[in-house]
Amino acid sequence: MDILNVSNLTFNYNNNLENLPILKNLSFNVKSNELVSIVGGSGCGKSTIIKLLASIEKPIQGDIVI
Ligand SMILES: Nc1ncnc2c1ncn2[C@@H]1O[C@H](COP(=O)(O)OP(=O)(O)OP(=O)(O)O)[C@@H](O)[C@H]1O
Ligand SMILES: [Mg+2]
Repeated sequence: MDILNVSNLTFNYNNNLENLPILKNLSFNVKSNELVSIVGGSGCGKSTIIKLLASIEKPIQGDIVI
């Protein structure tokens, strides 16, 4: 069973699609009891994903269902 669905997530920090997004059309699912790591270079958007999942930031486009 999925406990998290992220679909077509697009985000930047000035809430403006004209600017280069930090995340573009990011989609992934997490199942119950699954362990997931987010791996990438500094500044690629890992903490931003967590802020979106925690509703600290709002997506420009896309959906997060927990
Ligand atoms: N509040 C903010 N306002 C504007 N830009 C921001 C803000 N927070 C982060 N950024 C920018 O967004 C991009 C992604 O940042 P983020 O903190 O998500 O990266 P990260 O993958 O967690 O990096 P690190 O591995 O260094 O923790 C970076 O270019 C960063 O400078
Ligand atoms: Mg970080």
